[in-house]
Amino acid sequence: MATLKEKLMTPVAAASAVPSSKITVVGVGQVGMACAVSILGKGLCDELALVDVLEDKLKGEMMDLQHGSLFLQTHKIVADKDYAVTANSKIVVVTAGVRQQEGESRLNLVQRNVGVFKGIIPQIVKYSPNCTILVVSNPVDILTYVTWKLSGLPKHRVIGSGCNLDTARFRYLMAERLGIHPTSCHGWILGEHAARATLLR
Ligand SMILES: NC(=O)c1ccc[n+]([C@@H]2O[C@H](COP(=O)([O-])OP(=O)(O)OC[C@H]3O[C@@H](n4cnc5c(N)ncnc54)[C@H](O)[C@@H]3O)[C@@H](O)[C@H]2O)c1
Repeated sequence: MATLKEKLMTPVAAASAVPSSKITVVGVGQVGMACAVSILGKGLCDELALVDVLEDKLKGEMMDLQHGSLFLQTHKIVADKDYAVTANSKIVVVTAGVRQQEGESRLNLVQRNVGVFKGIIPQIVKYSPNCTILVVSNPVDILTYVTWKLSGLPKHRVIGSGCNLDTARFRYLMAERLGIHPTSCHGWILGEHAARATLLR
């Protein structure tokens, strides 16, 4: 017997089993969710996948985004701690990481985040061998290099956010001083991300 859906709807084309512009965000903290909202707001993907180790937080963030679907073009938003949910991603944004503890050296933080990345990167590549990985977690330049090594991907498919944030801050501060918009102020911050940012303060 035909289901209600079959009675009401006539398929005009076969549903695609593989998404064409899927994006994954790993880590649903403040930065990961800012990325997710920006991606959805610009309608950049046909499917968004979220991954984190905190299952309750992950589910809550996924539901919040799903409930906003009315205002979005992306029709599929999924989340799981299992990386199978990320399969066939074109881009994977990595924002996962542990926070610097009081008195902890930057070097020790690197070691802990390298440990985190050893768990994340092979899983990403296993399920999306053709993806491009965008690294945001700090220390971003070091972790981008680590990602390249762990992933085995060609170098043009592992990109770090680099000094874009530092540069944006620099241009904002120049613009504020001159009383004009940052798009009219040009300049770059080059070097290790965050190390140069302290100069701006
Ligand atoms: N590159 C830049 O310009 C830039 C700017 C801001 C922040 N950051 C960095 O981005 C990262 C995230 O910042 P935040 O403020 O969102 O931190 P946050 O603590 O709010 O979020 C981090 C998330 O990562 C998750 N996580 C930890 N281990 C994980 C694992 N093994 N697998 C999956 N998820 C895991 C945590 O559960 C948490 O939800 C930090 O490393 C921060 O320094 C970079």
